[in-house]
Amino acid sequence: MNLDELQKHWQKFGEEDPLWAILAIPEMKNNNWDTEEFFRRGILEIAETINRIEAIGAKLNYGRALDFGCGVGRLTQALAARFDEAHGVDIAPSMIEAARKFNKFGDKCNYHLNKKDDLSLFPDNYFDFIYSVIVLQHMQPRYSLKYIQEFLRVLQPGGVLVFQLPSEPKLQSDQPDKRKIKPTRLMMRFKRPFHTIYQTIRHRLNPAPPSTFEPRMEMYGIPKDKLLAFLAQNKATVLDVQIDSWPGPSWNSYMYFVSSS
Ligand SMILES: C[S@@+](CC[C@H](N)C(=O)[O-])C[C@H]1O[C@@H](n2cnc3c(N)ncnc32)[C@H](O)[C@@H]1O
Repeated sequence: MNLDELQKHWQKFGEEDPLWAILAIPEMKNNNWDTEEFFRRGILEIAETINRIEAIGAKLNYGRALDFGCGVGRLTQALAARFDEAHGVDIAPSMIEAARKFNKFGDKCNYHLNKKDDLSLFPDNYFDFIYSVIVLQHMQPRYSLKYIQEFLRVLQPGGVLVFQLPSEPKLQSDQPDKRKIKPTRLMMRFKRPFHTIYQTIRHRLNPAPPSTFEPRMEMYGIPKDKLLAFLAQNKATVLDVQIDSWPGPSWNSYMYFVSSS
């Protein structure tokens, strides 16, 4: 999906069932999330992340924080409770509208709609802390890599960036070990989106009427070694890489703890 399509799909998720689109626990479908519990999970997640940052010995300044792909502000609200200012950025107007309704921190917390493939809405060296989970995994690497470069541009020297990204789908134990065949860049690119390509062709041959438009999420990974090389090329200091479980059991995924110099 390009950014136009990505916006269209997330807009629809935000209109129909935003909390479930963010934390897709089956019992919470059809607007069944308890809002308090949903936001409580954001508070716990930010507390846990700050503990991990302290545990790896990084110093965090509590000036400005950015939550990229903020959805309805589950994490932005938790950041606003700890930082002087919190900023949430999202591509979907419906998510931003809901985030503004849920905001309990007035001017300390700002939500920004951004459909660009960059963060030119912010100047260089603006944030002390940048956080992004379950966002970059849903866009093509040409976009996620550009946003990571932008995170490094808007991060203060010595600031901390934490983001989550899958590396590759896990091999099932009953599958032959395909690792013997070195995946080409092309294979990596098309491994996951095959289903998507099929859907696109099917959609072109038999377009659904607008009323039955079903939003969907695509999944992409960037191999960890490639991402580490990319971070090094962009002069980022990797503080730590930790195993993560956001995309579920069928993906290898990591949290990257990064600083800029
Ligand atoms: C699964 S939700 C996660 C929300 C939030 N990070 C959380 O954990 O509560 C993914 C969010 O990323 C947003 N998003 C997707 N692509 C984006 C992009 N290119 N720029 C900004 N936001 C984007 C979607 O609109 C959606 O709100």
